Amino acid sequence: MSRTRALAPLIDTASGYYRGAGHFAWHWARGKLGADPAFAAILARGLLSGRSRILDLGCGQGLLAAWLLAARACHASDAPRAWPHGWPQPPWLRQYTGVDINPREVARARHAFALDPGAEVQIVHGDIRDVDYGTADAVVILDVLHYLDYPAQERVLHRVSTGCCCCASQTRPGARASRSARRWTTPWRSCATVAGCGSSAGRCASGSSCSPDAVSARTPCR
Ligand SMILES: C[S@@+](CC[C@H](N)C(=O)[O-])C[C@H]1O[C@@H](n2cnc3c(N)ncnc32)[C@H](O)[C@@H]1O
Repeated sequence: MSRTRALAPLIDTASGYYRGAGHFAWHWARGKLGADPAFAAILARGLLSGRSRILDLGCGQGLLAAWLLAARACHASDAPRAWPHGWPQPPWLRQYTGVDINPREVARARHAFALDPGAEVQIVHGDIRDVDYGTADAVVILDVLHYLDYPAQERVLHRVSTGCCCCASQTRPGARASRSARRWTTPWRSCATVAGCGSSAGRCASGSSCSPDAVSARTPCR
């Protein structure tokens, strides 16, 4: 089956959140979810498996929330081919916090999820360089780091990899926070970083495991 066909139920369901948020929001959702391989990779490789509280830094219109909620619905669906064959179980989203500096993105995101009573989606208007990160099981920075200068990228990644420790120990006493983080490039010259808290996180789109070394050896996103 072609990639487009395999992803169609997910894209239809996820973009459905933007029907009331205007033509731009809906078309943007369909275009980006279909074309940016990072979204499919997050699910296909189980990068957020077992993570239920997600912090999405630079969330835009909240596509990741729509994607994860759609994944849950498609995985639970009885419809044939609703969930791509061989993909692992998707994360069960209990809490999603998206942060974005652009008020228009924030408005689109808030509109998209306002009517979904089951979605634990919170959209914060703020700057990821200084906003409070709160608590999360995993932090996703998708197609955003290149907006920041290199020192700011390093500060954000440092805050993610160290601040995350506190969240892990609050929810899972004794859990050792991993400093695992990884990024990959997409044809859009974008960067994605998935940082997990706890010992099992930190898998990247290439499928290999990330080690703390991968973080310390990182270079700024160019
Ligand atoms: C290319 S979009 C990616 C949006 C989303 N992560 C996605 O993949 O659909 C980059 C987003 O980063 C946001 N952004 C850039 N600098 C930011 C900052 N310092 N704080 C918060 N958001 C920022 C922009 O407003 C924009 O919405």
